[in-house]
Amino acid sequence: MNSTSPAAKAWIVTGPTSGIGHRTALELAQHGTVVLVGRSPDKLREVEAEINALPQGHAVTVVCDFSDLASVRRAAAQIATLDLPVAGLLNNAGISPMGPASTAQGWDLAFTTNHLGPFALTEALIPHLPDGVNVVFTCSAVEDPKRKPATMAGFRGGRYISAEACLRGEWQPGGATRPGLDAYATSKQCNLATVLAFAREMPRLRFNAVEPGLNPGTGLARDAGAVTRFAAKYVAQPLAPFIKYWSTPKRAARMITGVLTDASGATGVYYDENGKPMLGSDQVRDAAFSARVVAETRALLAELSRQPA
Ligand SMILES: NC(=O)c1ccc[n+]([C@@H]2O[C@H](COP(=O)([O-])OP(=O)(O)OC[C@H]3O[C@@H](n4cnc5c(N)ncnc54)[C@H](OP(=O)(O)O)[C@@H]3O)[C@@H](O)[C@H]2O)c1
Repeated sequence: MNSTSPAAKAWIVTGPTSGIGHRTALELAQHGTVVLVGRSPDKLREVEAEINALPQGHAVTVVCDFSDLASVRRAAAQIATLDLPVAGLLNNAGISPMGPASTAQGWDLAFTTNHLGPFALTEALIPHLPDGVNVVFTCSAVEDPKRKPATMAGFRGGRYISAEACLRGEWQPGGATRPGLDAYATSKQCNLATVLAFAREMPRLRFNAVEPGLNPGTGLARDAGAVTRFAAKYVAQPLAPFIKYWSTPKRAARMITGVLTDASGATGVYYDENGKPMLGSDQVRDAAFSARVVAETRALLAELSRQPA
């Protein structure tokens, strides 16, 4: 840290090594210590150095692979022992594989990385979080089957059957024809369901969701072909500020930082790319559905923790 006194607040950011999470970590550096939680030690060190070079910048790093629950448990324990004055947790790390993809255990990779891992980290950290801490999840409107731009891109909304079915990579029939889309949309619907259910369950903390807008050119489409990635970065990205529902990592980072540092006490709110409240799908707004997602996720994590590693 460049100043002699410790920062009064600390902000935990997952996925700070690329795209939206990287820009948000830089923004949050103006508000206190940033706890960088990512899977690549080399990339984490780069972002740590970038933040520590800023005036008043202070970052610490924690290695965590969200596709590996043992790694998530270790990371949560490490964050707890840092004993920092945590004011916010941003669950931002995520992937969008272009096809069916599995972990070493054969679990659906998008569901494990985007939902199970962040859910496990959040639940492990909750007992250590002081009252009023703001927990934010980066969600996506592709979970809503009525969202026009998402359906035009081939999404058919979240296709949740059960947490166990998601782990096996099974989705409600009638979904997308392009592989990977149902897994991504369902995992992001689980993020939003988690926020809405946790906000009802735990009034001492605040749980909010953000839809960052379509941010072309981040690492999210890294599985896409070279031509698509080139077009996203050099054609779509410059147009993003002028298109409805689109954004840039810099703009998304400012919006997310505003939500994370908001002191109004708002909880259970889903914010759009402009920081205005928006609605999720009919399904996710059904309290029984979001409670079921949370209950089934807890049961699944308990079952998985009993299995040999
Ligand atoms: N881009 C969009 O248009 C858009 C729209 C709606 C929602 N979102 C959401 O926004 C979030 C950030 O996406 P982005 O567009 O900024 O993508 P990105 O540039 O690919 O960044 C994703 C971040 O997640 C990390 N990550 C991926 N897998 C991980 C794992 N197994 N363990 C730990 N960290 C992992 C990546 O680490 P590495 O650097 O090591 O790969 C990276 O730091 C995601 O949750 C995404 O679903 C994005």
